[in-house]
Amino acid sequence: MDGRDLVRSVKAVGSTGAAQGWRTVRAAWRRRRVDASGLVPRGAERARVPGPVLDVEPGPGGGLVRFTRSELRITVAVNGAVFWGWDGAGPEPSYALAGRSPGPDPRAVLEPDKDGAWRVVSERVTVVVSRNGAVEVRTPGGVTLRRDLPPRWWEPVGEGPARWMQRSEVAADARFFGLGGRASGPRLRDGAYRLWNTDPGLSFGPGDDPLYITMPVQMVVADAATHLVFHDSTWDGTVTLREGEEGAGSGHDRAGTSELRMDGGPLRCWVMVGTPERVLRTWTSLTGAAALPPTWALGHHHARWGFGSEQEVRRIVAGYLERGLPLDAVHLDIDHFDAHQVFTVDRERFPKLPMLAKELRRDGIRLVSIVDPAVKAEPGNAVYDSGSAVDAFVRDSARRPVRGVVWPGESVYPDFTRARVRLWWGELYKERLAQGFAGFWHDMNEPVSFAAFGENTLPRSARHDLEGRGGDHREAHNVYALCMARAGYEGLRELTPGERPFMFSRSGWAGMQRYGGTWSGDVATGWPGLRASLSLVVGLGLCGVPYSGPDVGGFDGSPSPELYLRWFQLGAYLPLFRTHASLRAGRREPWEFGEEILEHARVALVERRRLLPYFVTLAHLAHRTGAPYVRPVWWGAPEDRALRDCDDTFLLGDCLLVAPVLDPSTDRRAVQLPRGCWYDTVTEECYEGPAQVLVDAPLSRIPVLARAGAVVPVRGADGGLELEVWAPAPGRTGGGLVVPDTGDGWDEPEVERYVTRWEGQRVVVERDGEDGPGEPSRPVRVRGLGGL
Ligand code: GLC
Repeated sequence: MDGRDLVRSVKAVGSTGAAQGWRTVRAAWRRRRVDASGLVPRGAERARVPGPVLDVEPGPGGGLVRFTRSELRITVAVNGAVFWGWDGAGPEPSYALAGRSPGPDPRAVLEPDKDGAWRVVSERVTVVVSRNGAVEVRTPGGVTLRRDLPPRWWEPVGEGPARWMQRSEVAADARFFGLGGRASGPRLRDGAYRLWNTDPGLSFGPGDDPLYITMPVQMVVADAATHLVFHDSTWDGTVTLREGEEGAGSGHDRAGTSELRMDGGPLRCWVMVGTPERVLRTWTSLTGAAALPPTWALGHHHARWGFGSEQEVRRIVAGYLERGLPLDAVHLDIDHFDAHQVFTVDRERFPKLPMLAKELRRDGIRLVSIVDPAVKAEPGNAVYDSGSAVDAFVRDSARRPVRGVVWPGESVYPDFTRARVRLWWGELYKERLAQGFAGFWHDMNEPVSFAAFGENTLPRSARHDLEGRGGDHREAHNVYALCMARAGYEGLRELTPGERPFMFSRSGWAGMQRYGGTWSGDVATGWPGLRASLSLVVGLGLCGVPYSGPDVGGFDGSPSPELYLRWFQLGAYLPLFRTHASLRAGRREPWEFGEEILEHARVALVERRRLLPYFVTLAHLAHRTGAPYVRPVWWGAPEDRALRDCDDTFLLGDCLLVAPVLDPSTDRRAVQLPRGCWYDTVTEECYEGPAQVLVDAPLSRIPVLARAGAVVPVRGADGGLELEVWAPAPGRTGGGLVVPDTGDGWDEPEVERYVTRWEGQRVVVERDGEDGPGEPSRPVRVRGLGGL
C-alpha cells in the first residue's frame, strides 16, 4: 500500500474521511522533504580494493590476513560454519545470531597455500585466500563451490558509510535459492533481487520483487555440494544472479555469478557447506531454533479483514461447526480495534470479546489478534501516552518524532531496536491476553507509511537506537520487524510463561524463526498468485523460516470456485493453513462456492486434521534440526538436476510428496519424482523414481504421494495417535520419526524411531529403543500392499 492507494484505503477503513486523509498526506510529505536533509549527501567517493597480501597472523580457528588496504579475519567455528570479515569485521554485533557467535574450531589453522595464497583447512570445508584477496570455498575433496573475487569499496571522501560490492562465481551447474520470501522462485532465475523489506502496495504476483521479507541468505545447490552464504549486513542492497551454463563437451563452462552490492554495513559473511540438511542445521545453530507453534496453530485458521462484529464471527464459526468442518483459530483484523488503534477494542461491535473467546475455546477454537506497530499520534491514546513516557518513538535527525500515516491516521513508530522500547511493547500484550487472544499476527511492520515520500516507509534519515550504537533507518529498516517480533515474543514469555507464544509476522529478517513464522502477505487472487504463494513457503524454509503459508484464495477479489479449491488443497499441506482476504474481497468460507467445492474442501480439512500428528512431528523436527516442514523435491538428492529445476512440487517432511494443481482445468499432472518408490496415497498405485510420471489430479484432490517404507503419524478415529505405514519396496527397509504431542507448554518429548521391513510376505514395524527393537505401542496400519 502506498500514497497512490491512500484514497482507496482511507475509504476502505471508513473511519477517516478521504479529504482528511489527503491533508495528512500533504503535511507528511512536507515534513518528509525537510527530513531528507537529515542525511549527509553522497559526495565524491574513492574506490578501494584489498591490494596485495602483506602478512598473516594465525589465530584460533584461522587468523588474520593483512593486505595493503584491508585485512581479512577468517575463522572456522565449532559448528563447522566459516566466518570471514573484511576490514577486520567480526561476527558481532549481529541481529541474525541467536546469541554469542560460536567459538573457533581449534583444529582449523591458517597455513600457506600455492602462489602466495593462504588457506584454512577444516573437516568440511577448505577456504583459500589468494594473494590479492579472492576467497575460495572448496569441498574437502578440493572442488570449488564458490569463488569470491576481491571485494571493492566506495568510500565517501567526506562523512558516511562505504558502499561495497562482492562478486562471486559458482559452478556452472549451480542453482540459487533463498534471499528471503521471493514470489518468482523457489529457483531464483537470472535477475536482480533487492534486499529491502517492502510492502508492494497492491496485491502481488510472481513478478513483484522485493516483498516483505528479504534476507542476504543464499542457498546454492550444485553437483559437488550445497552451500549457504549469509552476508551479515542489514543495509539496503541488491543481489544480481546469473546462472551458469555448461559447455556440454563442445565449449567451456560458464560459471554462475552472484553480485552483491550493499549501501553500507560490514562486509562479512558466514558460509556453511554440506547436504541441504546439514547446511540448515548449521544455519539454525547460528541463528536460533525455530519457535515451536502450539498444536492448535497447526490446524485450520480462518481470518478476514472486516468480520465487522462479534455476531459475524459467531455466524462464521457456526457455519464451520454446523457443517462439521474442522476449525482451530479465528483471526481478528484491524476492524475490531477502536478507530484502528492497536491494543484497543471497538466496544460497540465487539462488546464482550473475552466471552466470545471463552465460548470459542470451548469448541477448541483460539482467537488470534492482528498487531500493527504504528501508534496513533494523539495525546489521550493510552498506547501513545505510555510510549511517549518512555521515549519509545522513532525520531528524525532534528529529534522530532517521525510521523507517518497508517490505518489509525497520523502515527508514530516504536523504535524496536531499543531494549527499553521492546520491554514496554511486550507488556502491552497483557491487554490482548485479557481480551482472550491466544496468538498474534504482526502486520505493516516493514514498517509502512502510506504517506511516505518516494518509498512507503520511514525516511532513511530517521534515527534508531540500534542497541545503543545509534544509526539511521538505512541500517534499521530491514530488522524493524525482527525486533518487533522479539519484543512481542519476549513479552509473551513473561506474561504467559507456561505456554509457547504463537506469533507470525509479515516482515522479518535472518533469525526471525526464533520468534515465530510468517504468511505470504497480500498475494493476488489468480493462478499466478497461487504459484507465488508456494514459492514463498519453499524459499523461506531454505532461509531457516519453516512456518508459513498463504492467504488461501488470495487476498483481493473473488477467486473462481476452482481456484479457491486448488488453493485450499495446497494450503492444507502447508504449515500455516489460513483462509484470509481483504475488506472488499469476495467470501472465503468453504461453503460459499457451491456444494461440490464444499465437499472437496471438507476432504482437505479432514485430511489436515488426520495429519495433525505428522505436522506436530515436523514442527518438532524443524525446531530441533532446522529442516523445514516444506522442502524442495531435491532435499534428499541435490545432485539430481531435474529436481533442482522443479518449482511446482514439494516434500512435506520425509514421508510425503505433494503435487499441488497450479493451473486451471487440470485433471492430470506431471510429477518429478526423486529416487525410490512412491505411492499415490488415494489409489495406492506405486510409481518408481527418479522419473517424471503423470498422475491423476481430479478436482476432488491434489496428488499426494507417500514414500515406500515411510511411517506417518496420524490421528485415529478416537483421536489417538496411530502409525500409517507405507510398505517398503520389496527387499527394502524403511522407517520414520514420530514426536508425540505433549501440549502447548515447554516439554520436549522424546523422539520415537520406527523401522519397517519385510518378513516373508508380511511388513513388520518395530520401535527402535535403547534395548533393541520392540513392538510399537501405537496402533499400526500398513498401506500400499496392493500397489507393489
Ligand atoms: C495488510 C495485511 C493484511 C490485512 C490488512 C488490514 O494489507 O497484509 O493481511 O488484512 O493489512 O489489516
